[in-house]
Amino acid sequence: MASPELAVASDHERPSSIIDDESSVTGSVLTAMAGAENPRLREIMASFVRHMHDFAREVRLTEEEFELGIEFLNRIGQASHDAHNEGILFSDAIGFSSLVCLLNNGKSGATETAAALLGPFWRMNSPRTENGGSIVRSETPGPPLFVSCRVTDPQGRPIAGVEVDVWHASPVGYYENQDESQADMNLRGKFTTDADGRFGFRSVKPAGYPVPTDGPVGDLLRAQRRHPYRPAHLHFLAYKPGYKTLVTQVFVDDDQYLGTDVVFGVTRHLIGQYERHDKGDAPAGDVTPPWYTLDYTFVMEPGEAKLPKPPIK
Ligand code: BEZ
Ligand code: FE
Repeated sequence: MASPELAVASDHERPSSIIDDESSVTGSVLTAMAGAENPRLREIMASFVRHMHDFAREVRLTEEEFELGIEFLNRIGQASHDAHNEGILFSDAIGFSSLVCLLNNGKSGATETAAALLGPFWRMNSPRTENGGSIVRSETPGPPLFVSCRVTDPQGRPIAGVEVDVWHASPVGYYENQDESQADMNLRGKFTTDADGRFGFRSVKPAGYPVPTDGPVGDLLRAQRRHPYRPAHLHFLAYKPGYKTLVTQVFVDDDQYLGTDVVFGVTRHLIGQYERHDKGDAPAGDVTPPWYTLDYTFVMEPGEAKLPKPPIK
């Protein structure tokens, strides 16, 4: 960033920005910002200002509404800390996170994508678990779930050696870090795909859950008469050098909130077939009906492998 002295010097060279009226202010701001050295910063800020100014003109924003908006932004900052990110939650609740995900995956937004929001509950260093092993690490009542997955490239060829993190909420709708009754890392695991691109695990069928509603985003949802629920889902993060890291979720097909996810994360591609079994031989000796199975194939695109910043420790 330029030093204050440099910025002032270049500012002196620009045309006068004495404002005539509501429409001329936009051009003056754009001119003032045009000296940014970084071209991407220039492009993003120019577009942002144009849209913000147009927005205020379109709704004829009042001074009271402006104050309310600024207070809302300040409250988002005040509600955020190491273990909670109200800013992301706001972006999620207005569909912006989902939009950014769609723009950056699936051939840059041209096609439906296998990717979905990371959400606030991914933790690094999930326990390595053998293929077929259980991620239930403390007593967790709920219907047993057996998951069999495959990871392929876009041509359908298996990808071996992919590291896959799995995490999900319990059948009562809490992640282990929100719930004292669950062991550390309960319902979390890290798997590696075998030579055929496969991995699998045993768990319990997850339930839907509400996003946190004790901050400004909760106030917004209530004012809009929206429920705060996400449909039940499993989270996956698949990582292998040479492939674009795949962050995704697979939703439970019979969930009542499938069509009204509060954070707009459901695409048709991400609805899994969680098959219920009421008779027959269960995949494990201690299981009695009903139990569920899920088979799912993930497709990884060639690209850069990078891990997101963990939202919580
Ligand atoms: C989640 O799926 O874990 C999540 C995503 C967005 C907001 C809150 C939770
Ligand atoms: Fe989740």
